[in-house]
Amino acid sequence: MSLEAEVGRLKEERDAVLLAHNYQRPEVQDVADFVGDSLYLSRKAREADRRVIVFAGVRFMAETAKILNPSRTVLLPDLRAGCALADAITAEQLRDWKAAHPGAAVVAYINTSADVKAESDYCCTSSNAVKVVESIPADREILFLPDMFLGDYVRKRTGRAMHLWVGDCPVHARMRPEDMDRARRAHPGAPILAHPECGCASQALPQVDRVLSTDGMVRYAEETRAPEVLVATEVGILHRMQQINPTTRFTPLDLGTVCPFMKEIDLADVRDSLQLQRYVIEVPDATADRARGVLERMIAS
Ligand code: 13P
Ligand code: SF4
Repeated sequence: MSLEAEVGRLKEERDAVLLAHNYQRPEVQDVADFVGDSLYLSRKAREADRRVIVFAGVRFMAETAKILNPSRTVLLPDLRAGCALADAITAEQLRDWKAAHPGAAVVAYINTSADVKAESDYCCTSSNAVKVVESIPADREILFLPDMFLGDYVRKRTGRAMHLWVGDCPVHARMRPEDMDRARRAHPGAPILAHPECGCASQALPQVDRVLSTDGMVRYAEETRAPEVLVATEVGILHRMQQINPTTRFTPLDLGTVCPFMKEIDLADVRDSLQLQRYVIEVPDATADRARGVLERMIAS
């Protein structure tokens, strides 16, 4: 039996739903029940009625699923699938930052640990960060964490003077405005899409045609008639964009934009995860109870 067929059989046997992020390996995306960005997958996890949720993504996504749907068993197929950006701030560091800015609203990007979310007032993803910040009363001081590039982009879009935590995603931060210029010259006329975590997105806004979450890029792919589009984010997204729109050529701005954490999971890991019911993700009740409110608010926004 093929690995794909085994995964299909085990999903039924174990009463499991398989969620996969847009950066997952193509073969993992192809067997998933739902593929999407952080916000979409959080919503799918929250409404999942299967006994088991297998999360082909990274740890903070699986933790979010557990917090939003605590009666389900949530499995992460490889425990090495962490996130360098989520590791950029600890709950203790956040408590110290809050102490230096009493009364400030804390906006945490979803790429954070459950402990950090539990210390936050708002949570956002790349697709709703601008909307979440706009919903905060204008006279309230804001601490935004942990991605300084996303924070800088939101600051420019909203005009809000936010304090930014100095963290970044090493996969996206390596893309610089010079890379945009080079790509523009090499591919004249091709629109450029950039994820807001990119080191170039906020600094090179005039060169970028659209700053989008990964699902935003997929929607763009559905609609565009351009012969070529340049894509500045993790290369896993290209599979879905090309599948949806085979007539446009989707060219990565930089072929080296590969997230090692997202690539930890392969099809055999998904099969083993279902077969052996591993690795179970738990969030302590006290943490989950505090983090749930900010996540519910994020889902509703
Ligand atoms: P999206 O929510 O846009 O999919 O981004 C998640 C992520 O980890 C980007 O690096
Ligand atoms: Fe984390 Fe960056 Fe990988 Fe996204 S691409 S999961 S932010 S390390």
